[in-house]
Amino acid sequence: MSENVVILAGGQGKRMKSELPKVLCKVLEKPMITWVTDACENAGFENICIVKGYAAEKLEEYLGGRFETVLQKEQLGTGHAVMQAEEFLKKDPDSDTLVLCGDAPFIDSATIRSSLDFHRSEENDVTIVTAELADPVGYGRIIRNGNEVSAIVEQKDATDEQLEVKEVNSGCYWFKTSSLLETLDKLSPQNAQGEYYLTDCIYLLVEQGKKAGAYKSENPSIVLGANDRRGLLKLNDTARMEVIGKHLDRGVEFTCTDGVIISPEVEIGSSTIIRQGVILRGETVIGSGCDIGPNCIIENTSVGNNTILNNVQSYDAEIGNNVKIGPFVQIRPDSRINDGAKIGDFVEIKNSTIGEKTSVAHLTYIGDSDVGANVNFGCGVVTVNYDGENKFRTEIGDNAFIGCNTNLVSPVRIGNEAYTAAGSTITGNVPDGALAIERGKTVIKDGYAYKKLKKRTEKFEKEKQNKNIK
Ligand code: UD1
Ligand code: CA
Repeated sequence: MSENVVILAGGQGKRMKSELPKVLCKVLEKPMITWVTDACENAGFENICIVKGYAAEKLEEYLGGRFETVLQKEQLGTGHAVMQAEEFLKKDPDSDTLVLCGDAPFIDSATIRSSLDFHRSEENDVTIVTAELADPVGYGRIIRNGNEVSAIVEQKDATDEQLEVKEVNSGCYWFKTSSLLETLDKLSPQNAQGEYYLTDCIYLLVEQGKKAGAYKSENPSIVLGANDRRGLLKLNDTARMEVIGKHLDRGVEFTCTDGVIISPEVEIGSSTIIRQGVILRGETVIGSGCDIGPNCIIENTSVGNNTILNNVQSYDAEIGNNVKIGPFVQIRPDSRINDGAKIGDFVEIKNSTIGEKTSVAHLTYIGDSDVGANVNFGCGVVTVNYDGENKFRTEIGDNAFIGCNTNLVSPVRIGNEAYTAAGSTITGNVPDGALAIERGKTVIKDGYAYKKLKKRTEKFEKEKQNKNIK
């Protein structure tokens, strides 16, 4: 027997004013639905069915077939959404079912697990995960009868007295699957919003003498959801400081937190300094003793220890230990910068390996290249890797010296210890230890400039005289 998970993700979120399903709105650069699926998977529940609806194809495209989905053609409410998963639930009716809202991203795996333990030990037919909020406006209120719950009342249907209740519904529930299936059939849209409310299952179960309980979380953020852009920004603010707090506890130093956005999965070693304007996203891992920022975007990149990144953007790359990069550098996908390398201002590196202790100090483009160790690049080197149709690789051996303003027309190999003369456009391979010069020789024309100057002076004098006569 394995537990079922149903995640509700059909709503448009009209107030977001977005073309996308609401659950694709991002918190810390990660769509809300993925926060929820990650929490389920981390809790060990992988039998997941997602209810899609508004802009379903956009959601499918994002999910990329990773989960079973069902379509809710019309968005008639949360209860109606769960009805669409009936076939999925009937496959395993003797188990328990977890229902979650895809727009409440902070539900965590520990809460999911311990609420199931509670649900089972209490032998509940339904257990609602709840929390107390200082400002409960907008959420369903938990109506208690001692330790048990008698109903959930939505904001729009609540009496003044019920609106005083601070304990709210997180939108996360454990049901006995058979009880859920029986009750879904009984839902009706007789309420202020004319919707089939999932929350009505609670009083319907209680009416039949079944048992409803609440698992109250100590952490009020688990209930937070976003219904509009203001709410989404609030979630981002909350999550941002929570993630930064976690890194502070692990010994990461933040000079300030302005503009710092760190996705939840990112790992950072102790004694690393994070400066303003640093955005770390995706599967990024930063070692210890690094100095990152100001103003960096580091995405799906691993960075070693004691590395300095100042005004750097890096995507899908690997950066080693004791590397110094920046300012104003872009490292593009499939690049590897090895230990001790130095990449200076206005350099772009794409799909290339840069060897240990190699220095690329200024104004250089290195694309589709394999560069050895201890290579020195002068200012303004360009690998000419694309002929308009095909791309070719450039190979540079260890200890080579590439003169200023060299073009390396690929495919080309510069040998170990080889030199290229400044201003050369190198079109053929250079053997180990050789110097390649591929540029015009200097031609001297003695006195040429003086003659030119004399002519110009004479012309100017003539013009002046003509004017005076008039
Ligand atoms: C719901 C709960 C409320 C709870 C709150 C927690 C109901 C009736 N109310 O309210 O008690 O405090 O969540 O966040 O359940 N959805 C569908 N199809 C639909 C309607 C909604 O898939 O027809 C999805 C939405 O995409 C969303 C989730 O269900 O992910 C919740 O829907 P929403 O309309 O935001 O419910 P709330 O009003 O927030
Ligand atoms: Ca909501």
